[in-house]
Amino acid sequence: MENSPSGQTVPPRRVLIVGATGFLGAKIVANLLRDPTVTVRAMSRKGAPADAAPGAEWVQGDMMDPASLDRALEGVDVVVSSANGYMKESIEIDFAGNRNLVEAAARAKVRRFVFLSIVACEHAADVPHFHAKKVAEDLIRAANVPFVFVRAPAFLDQSADYIANAVKGGKFYAVGDKSTRWSYVLTDDLAANLAAAAAWPGDEITGQTIDIGWRDGPKSQQEIADTIGKLVGKRLKIWTVPWAVFSVLVRPIRLISELGFDLMRMFLFFRRGVFVSDIALQERFFGPAPTSRDALSRWAKANGLV
Ligand SMILES: NC(=O)c1ccc[n+]([C@@H]2O[C@H](COP(=O)([O-])OP(=O)(O)OC[C@H]3O[C@@H](n4cnc5c(N)ncnc54)[C@H](OP(=O)(O)O)[C@@H]3O)[C@@H](O)[C@H]2O)c1
Repeated sequence: MENSPSGQTVPPRRVLIVGATGFLGAKIVANLLRDPTVTVRAMSRKGAPADAAPGAEWVQGDMMDPASLDRALEGVDVVVSSANGYMKESIEIDFAGNRNLVEAAARAKVRRFVFLSIVACEHAADVPHFHAKKVAEDLIRAANVPFVFVRAPAFLDQSADYIANAVKGGKFYAVGDKSTRWSYVLTDDLAANLAAAAAWPGDEITGQTIDIGWRDGPKSQQEIADTIGKLVGKRLKIWTVPWAVFSVLVRPIRLISELGFDLMRMFLFFRRGVFVSDIALQERFFGPAPTSRDALSRWAKANGLV
């Protein structure tokens, strides 16, 4: 039990993590398990994974099944969601699944919905999974569910770390050109921010839309490659896939891959130079944002590059 400002003990709030088995989602769970002010309930369609860390209560739930969401949300104060379907299954989960989750959160009268959204998604109606985030944000507002939108830029690290693998071979693969800048985040940092938003004790965070990024701003791929090169002590050879390739392939690829179409649309959106985080609220709530050098140095260490 924690003490409130008036000296009364308050029970820890129960946080439901939707997407708890994901690459990012598991890191949100790990952060919240270290926080004594919350109790952790984690949701997956399959129930607890075999390697689940002790301390979380696991519930079975499917965003496409509203009744299962009502059960998962029973007694929950805060829901935090990083779930998505567009990468591995279907973007229907990002549209219909999020709609179901918002409606269930409204029925459960949760005190806060921390939704992982994407920087500048309101300007990206032609990128399906960015648009799905904007639609979900609008649904949450319309349902009058108290919210915090944490908007992520591009992940520097992915579950299959293609940047680290290329760096090991002295290469850096660039999308489009070497000069356009956009913002990045390390998933370790983003997960800590999402957990902090979920556990935030006061109401001043409610209704905020918080971009996440680096203190020294967006970076070009040349700048990223140069910083990594300095950290690992070798000059990286940059291989660039020009924008024209994405412009030509974006329509035909849709015939064979919705995901390919979505990602190419996203790259062409990056080209516009507006995928840039405004970190003012991030620093107000979560403290100084990391610099690119700090984040890249931690990333390089984690990948055994230094
Ligand atoms: N990659 C980037 O550069 C980038 C940038 C900005 C934002 N993002 C966002 O970051 C998030 C990535 O999270 P992640 O890495 O943890 O994803 P992930 O590894 O792809 O995992 C997907 C998660 O979603 C859950 N899920 C999928 N369909 C579901 C359903 N029908 N019902 C309930 N849960 C469902 C899965 O749970 P089960 O399979 O266990 O049910 C799993 O936990 C996404 O929201 C993405 O849009 C990514």
